[in-house]
Amino acid sequence: MHINIPRGTQDILPGTVEKWQYIEGKIKQLCDRYQYSEIRTPIFEHTELFLRSVGDTTDIVTKEMYTFEDRGKRSLTLRPEGTAAVVRSFVENKMHGYASQPIKLFYLGQMFRYERPQAGRFRQFVQFGVEAIGSKDPAIDAEVIALAYSVYQTMGLSKLKVVVNSLGDKESRQAHREALIAHFKPSIGEFCHDCQTRLEKNPMRILDCKKDHEHPLMKSAPSILEYLNEESKAYFEKVQKYLTALNIPFVVDSNLVRGLDYYNHTAFEIMSEAEGFGAITTLCGGGRYNGLTEELGGPEAPGIGFAMSLERLLSALEAEKIELPIEKKVDCYLVSLGEEAKDYTVGLVNELRQAGFSAERDYLDRKVKAQFKAADRLHAKYVAVLGENELQNNKINLKQLETGEQKEIPLTELVSALKDFGSF
Ligand code: HAM
Repeated sequence: MHINIPRGTQDILPGTVEKWQYIEGKIKQLCDRYQYSEIRTPIFEHTELFLRSVGDTTDIVTKEMYTFEDRGKRSLTLRPEGTAAVVRSFVENKMHGYASQPIKLFYLGQMFRYERPQAGRFRQFVQFGVEAIGSKDPAIDAEVIALAYSVYQTMGLSKLKVVVNSLGDKESRQAHREALIAHFKPSIGEFCHDCQTRLEKNPMRILDCKKDHEHPLMKSAPSILEYLNEESKAYFEKVQKYLTALNIPFVVDSNLVRGLDYYNHTAFEIMSEAEGFGAITTLCGGGRYNGLTEELGGPEAPGIGFAMSLERLLSALEAEKIELPIEKKVDCYLVSLGEEAKDYTVGLVNELRQAGFSAERDYLDRKVKAQFKAADRLHAKYVAVLGENELQNNKINLKQLETGEQKEIPLTELVSALKDFGSF
């Protein structure tokens, strides 16, 4: 019987996994430069956490969560995103009391959403995200956007579009909410069932509807930017001023509402404008979530963050035809000829590895020529050939594949000869 991989998931095999490792390495370096420390939270959380933070009228919560009951009859959910858990952990571990503030964290891990799989959309995907909690300085909004942007730039991507918006504070949102209700109410019967429920509960979610996005009332809907109070306006202007100072090109789009409920003030996305990237162009999204710590039972600690999936980053690299500089080489391949020499390489390969070299030998009883081919396939830098004669004379033949240079050396000096070759 054949059992296939679940829909919307993928195996990342050797040959591709090196790209992931390269990207993860670069991301960790960048986080260090920007002074974000890694946090690892569980893969599953209490379902209630996502209802309270992501929001019970969002698509994520109503349609996309992998929720199950454990044997103790608790409702648990595989995390669909990372912010809720990071803020939970901030509150639970009383990070507001830490000496160094604001708390700047990053995470890299699998997220799960029961979505319709298509290019760039998976049911299990890996998000890199950051959260800066404890500051409402607009400079940190700009820093977070700059960090996201620099990930893509570091990888060599250039066809990028940064879109920003402000969702305002509570007062601005309340005014906008009333305007939205007045706008949609008379014709709400023309909208899907979900939108009809959203009208009173959370009318901003209507703007994010995947079914009704072509309805003419969507385009003429009142823009949040017209309802920003002075404070929210001033905040948004500062964010834009700092982005300009950081040389980050951006456009303001008042239709950017984001699909999660915890946002206020700054909201942003970075899109790929590369040809052939696919229908989903968003590479990354984030925003400010003042009030979320209080919602989860903690003290006031305003926050901002973003998340991006590595799957979409890899697709953008493909669309822009960017090859990552990945070199996988084995330092030394041991070729042996004859039974005794073969036996001898069991210890020798181990000696090389213990000395810090990557080393390999034949395990398939191959002829010498095939062993050389195997060495080539592994991109070996050196091949050490041990035949019956060499073994009797306590010698080994060491060949540098790139230059063709070779020399016979005492068998006991293989490690030091490799070191002497100077390229390690
Ligand atoms: P989000 O917009 O739901 O925000 O997701 C952020 C990013 O995750 C997307 O831009 C995309 O790169 C990736 N992503 C989401 N769903 C999928 C999927 N099904 N397949 C592949 N990639 C996907 C959040 O998750 C927020 N927690 C971001 C945030 C952090 N806001 C503040 N802090």
